[in-house]
Amino acid sequence: MLKVAVIGATGAVGQEFVVALNKHKWFELTQIAASERSVGKKYVDAIRDPNSGILRWHNREQVPEYVKDMVVSKVEDIKPQDFDLIFTALESDDAKIVEPKFAKTTPVISTAAAFRYESDVPILIPGVNDDHADLLNAQRKTRGWNGFIAPLPNCTTTGLAISLKPILDKFGIKKIFMTSMQALSGAGRSPGVIALDIIDNVIPYIPKEEEKVQVEAKKILGNFVKDSIAPADFRVSCTCTRVPVIDGHTETVFVETDKTVEPEDVKKEMLNFSKNVSISKLPTAPSEYIVVHDDPTRPQPRIDREINDGMTTVIGRLRKDTAFDNGIKYVLLSHNEKMGSAKGAVLLAEMLKTQKIL
Ligand SMILES: NC(=O)c1ccc[n+]([C@@H]2O[C@H](COP(=O)([O-])OP(=O)(O)OC[C@H]3O[C@@H](n4cnc5c(N)ncnc54)[C@H](OP(=O)(O)O)[C@@H]3O)[C@@H](O)[C@H]2O)c1
Repeated sequence: MLKVAVIGATGAVGQEFVVALNKHKWFELTQIAASERSVGKKYVDAIRDPNSGILRWHNREQVPEYVKDMVVSKVEDIKPQDFDLIFTALESDDAKIVEPKFAKTTPVISTAAAFRYESDVPILIPGVNDDHADLLNAQRKTRGWNGFIAPLPNCTTTGLAISLKPILDKFGIKKIFMTSMQALSGAGRSPGVIALDIIDNVIPYIPKEEEKVQVEAKKILGNFVKDSIAPADFRVSCTCTRVPVIDGHTETVFVETDKTVEPEDVKKEMLNFSKNVSISKLPTAPSEYIVVHDDPTRPQPRIDREINDGMTTVIGRLRKDTAFDNGIKYVLLSHNEKMGSAKGAVLLAEMLKTQKIL
């Protein structure tokens, strides 16, 4: 068993880490840390907020037994050398300070944006750009670290990049327009979104989100050559909005391809890619990486977000687009806290372990 710690274990993503690591075959969670607010409290008490209750679970009984009485540590009290791997789920400003300290001795898998855009840091989605993981070895060398920092993408980029990968490989891509309808849990617990702002409403702006998706999609789907990543040669334009949905980001996607393409060909490629995805044998991998619905009323967050425990990218409304010369369009749904963060991070750890990078 590899010993792991989770930093930010009381937050929206941290709580999903606790669930994803419960009875995991390869990883044992032995220490958790969070802010001063939680330090010294038992986990089950730390996640109770007088203003907001328990986010992930409806009551104390549902909190996994193994973690209930674990006492929340200070970040400064974590000895990274005691762990084989550290998962971090912190806001970017905190991650920027904490993650490099840990990475000197220990691999860090991060859900924060802090290091995503540095040239020796890959943004990894297991099954999409596994070959980019080699950049972690270069990162170790150039920074003189025993560990590394391996960030996941922004949760809005994850489903988009997964759906684009088979299209890019088979038909080439010139342009992408995407509009997201993002869930509330994507904003985390602090500061989160104020209930009075979002109930009966749609917020048409999420700070820094569009820039993140635009840069990350190109990096993830870029080519890894000689210890660097050349971003993919397509243009991405996004509008990111927040909607009153608890979990699961919905996105409408328009793609202009290089080659002429029919929706049926795209469906075939997506399903083929899903069937042969590289990570299918890993413990956390879903039985279906991508599902494509013919039913025009799917995907819907309430119906589809928990398919394969939130690890499947669900596509629907795949059809021809007539505004582009060679265009298709579709709607996708991706679980922001499962494949899009905590569970996706655990899947990434499993992939890095099989690649012997971890
Ligand atoms: N939510 C999502 O769907 C999602 C998806 C992908 C990526 N992300 C990224 O993941 C990261 C975490 O997001 P989140 O939604 O889980 O946020 P969150 O709910 O606000 O949780 C933040 C966590 O960090 C802890 N924390 C805050 N300040 C700290 C400090 N100075 N030292 C140590 N711990 C500290 C908090 O502890 P206390 O509870 O004690 O305050 C809490 O455990 C962010 O970078 C976010 O952008 C989020």
